[in-house]
Amino acid sequence: MKTTTEKFGATPHQPSLWTRADALKVRADDPTTTQPLVSADFPVLNNDVFIWDTMPLRDLDGNVTSVDGWSVIFTLTADRHPNDPQYLDEDGNYDILRDWNDRHGRAKMYYWFSRTGKNWEFGGRVMAEGVSPTAREWAGTPILLNDRGEVDLYYTAVTPGATIVKVRGRVVTTEHGVSMVGFEKVKPLFEADGNLYQTEAQNAFWGFRDPWPFRDPKDGKLYMLFEGNVAGERGSHKVGEAEIGDVPPGYEDVGNSRFQTACVGIAVARDADGDDWEMLPPLLTAVGVNDQTERPHFVFQDGKYYLFTISHTFTYADGVTGPDGVYGFVADSLFGPYVPLNGSGLVLGNPSSQPFQTYSHYVMPNGLVTSFIDSVPTDETGTQIRVGGTEAPTVGMKIKGQQTFVVAEYDYGYIPPMLDVTLK
Ligand code: FRU
Repeated sequence: MKTTTEKFGATPHQPSLWTRADALKVRADDPTTTQPLVSADFPVLNNDVFIWDTMPLRDLDGNVTSVDGWSVIFTLTADRHPNDPQYLDEDGNYDILRDWNDRHGRAKMYYWFSRTGKNWEFGGRVMAEGVSPTAREWAGTPILLNDRGEVDLYYTAVTPGATIVKVRGRVVTTEHGVSMVGFEKVKPLFEADGNLYQTEAQNAFWGFRDPWPFRDPKDGKLYMLFEGNVAGERGSHKVGEAEIGDVPPGYEDVGNSRFQTACVGIAVARDADGDDWEMLPPLLTAVGVNDQTERPHFVFQDGKYYLFTISHTFTYADGVTGPDGVYGFVADSLFGPYVPLNGSGLVLGNPSSQPFQTYSHYVMPNGLVTSFIDSVPTDETGTQIRVGGTEAPTVGMKIKGQQTFVVAEYDYGYIPPMLDVTLK
């Protein structure tokens, strides 16, 4: 297997590299890139369900959009099982942590609405049982297409396989609330090809998911970001000079970092409706650095492309580390080259005293960052925790050139609209 730079040599663009040298600059607990402590007495949005990845309704330019004054979010959601014998421990108590950790296998897409951009009211499931072709409905993006209320929901149909799909429906409002109608026919778009993006056959731990369609503000074309891994058999990737970057003496050893092969994928639509897509080489690779660059998304600001993606401590490669949180990169044009924000890429990480307090950060064009609460310690030693499965406090951030700064904290799940569409 060739190194990342050799592999994509003859392609239309060269993927940018998040290098081991960049990652060595990550500093946990820098207050300008650390999420304020989440208190263990957080409120829970809904006691019947866990929610995690949150997907605000938006337009193709990235603007968070309300309809007839109603804000709408979609969330990955799973029932809580406080009375299910399967989730009781030896003493008959609810083992919420086990229930929470099992949630991915039964993730379904739900929606919520609000007049105030917070205190979300329960909407329900977006697709009826049986509509989605696989067991799991994983993350994606709901796009408001027009003032007739048409919505394209792009998401990932997982197990068996992992396919990027979309389903069209409509948002309907009344004085009292919001409903989702339609969402009955799921259209498969594409899956990993084994040539650009790693397949399940090449690596049982492959990632291929989290579509984020957008209109390029410069060329006006329809594209889509997604999470992938660089194609090739597991273990065959080479971590060469380019992937290592400019490291100090003593930092040349890459250990087993060839197993970490995350990338941010991109596809371009061949049609105006986004029914026909062509995968292009990744925008960014993290071979030798990290195995997951999840839920990639853009903020277009000051003529620049700010690319954000979430990642974990446990997915870092040997010899490099960083907190769970959101990382970012900036370029002057869509295909790069991308430079890590703040030198390292770290934009908003969990504090080391509460390493799992939040995850799945989504940076909105107004600088607000939403995420969900994972677990928060309830004692000094961190052995006791309270599981979240609910919205975290929103963080306000300023993006300036190649730097970002935490500047504010807002209410739990505060996702205000950037524009309102009156439905016809
Ligand atoms: C992020 C994530 C997504 C995936 C979903 C699965 O939290 O891992 O990448 O779509 O959660 O539950």
